[in-house]
Amino acid sequence: MNTTTIKKFIEGIPKAELHLHIEGTFEPELMFKIAKRNNKKIKYNSVDELKKAYSFNNLQEFLDIYYAGANVLIEEQDFYDLTWAYLTKVHEQNVVHVEIFFDPQTHTDRGIAFDTVIKGIYRALQDGEQQLGISFKLIMSFLRHLDEASAFKTLEDALTYKNWISGVGLDSSEVGNPPSKFERVFAKALEEGFITVAHAGEEGPAEYIWEALDLLKVTRIDHGNRCLDDDKLVERLADLQMPLTVCPLSNLELKVVTDLKDHPIPKMIEKNLLVTVNSDDPAYFGGYMNENYLGITQALNLSKKQITQLAKNSFKASWLTDREKEKRIAQIEDYFQNNH
Ligand code: HPA
Ligand code: ZN
Repeated sequence: MNTTTIKKFIEGIPKAELHLHIEGTFEPELMFKIAKRNNKKIKYNSVDELKKAYSFNNLQEFLDIYYAGANVLIEEQDFYDLTWAYLTKVHEQNVVHVEIFFDPQTHTDRGIAFDTVIKGIYRALQDGEQQLGISFKLIMSFLRHLDEASAFKTLEDALTYKNWISGVGLDSSEVGNPPSKFERVFAKALEEGFITVAHAGEEGPAEYIWEALDLLKVTRIDHGNRCLDDDKLVERLADLQMPLTVCPLSNLELKVVTDLKDHPIPKMIEKNLLVTVNSDDPAYFGGYMNENYLGITQALNLSKKQITQLAKNSFKASWLTDREKEKRIAQIEDYFQNNH
C-alpha cells in the first residue's frame, strides 16, 4: 500500500484516545508564550533549543523535562489553553473521544490549587464537546514517586469534583514504585466510585501488571508491554479482554523498543490481547494519534483491516456506554466498507 493511501485511511478513521497526559501535550511554542505572560523562566533560550533537549534514554530522563515544562502553568487559563490546544489538534485527526490524564500533584506541589488545575482543564473539555463534538472522560493520575499520604491528600481534593473525574490512574517513575505502594489509596478510590487504571509494564516487570490487576482492580493497563515476558499473565489478560493502552512513539522515544519494526503490537494482537494505540505525551514524542498509527502501520506493514481493528478496539476499551460504543464501531465498519 502506498503512503498517501494509508495516510488518508488513517486520517479519516474515527478514533478514541485513551492514554494521554495533558501535561505531555505542552508544545514548546505554547510553553514559551505562557512562560512570558506568567513571568516564568525556561531553562532554554528558544523553542529550537528546547526541542533539542528532547532526546531521552529512559523514562526518568523524559520525566525530568516533562515536570520542568509544567512549571510555567500557573493560572486557570493556562490549563484551559493547554487542553484546548490538544483538542483542536486531535480534532483535525478525527479523534472523536478522549480519556485524558492530568497529574494534579505536579501542580499542587508547586503551590497551584487543585481547583485552578481542574477548572481550566474541564472548561476546555466542555468547550471541546460542544464546539468540536469530542466526547471525553477525565482521569486523575497519582505520581507514584511520591508517597501514599500525598496520594491520599490528592484523592481527598478530588472528592469535590467526583462528577468531573471518571477514574484514577498511576504514572511517573515506575521501577521501585510498584502498584502495591498504592493499594490502600486505590481501595478508597474504588469505594468512592472511581474506575481505576495504572501504568504497568512500561519499564517495570510483569509482576507490576499482576499487582495492578489483583491489588488495584484496574479496568485497563496503561502500556503493559512487559506482559509478554509472562505466558500466564498474557493468558489472563486475554481471557479478561483487559485493554492495553499501548503508545508506540513513546516506546520508541523512551527506548522501551529500539525500533518500531520490533514493536510488540503484532505479537500482542496474535495473542488475542485487546490492544489500543495512543500518543502518551505527543509534544515530547514526535506525534499525535495519526503519527502513532502511521508509524506502526509502516514499520510493521499493518493492513487496513488491522488498522480498523485497532480503531474499533479504542472504543471497545473506552468508558463510553454500550450504545455509544456500538454507534462508533458501526461507523468504523462503514468507513472500512467504503474505503478499502
Ligand atoms: N510513563 C509514566 N509516567 C508518565 C508517562 C509515561 O509514559 N508519561 C507521563 N507521565
Ligand atoms: Zn503514560
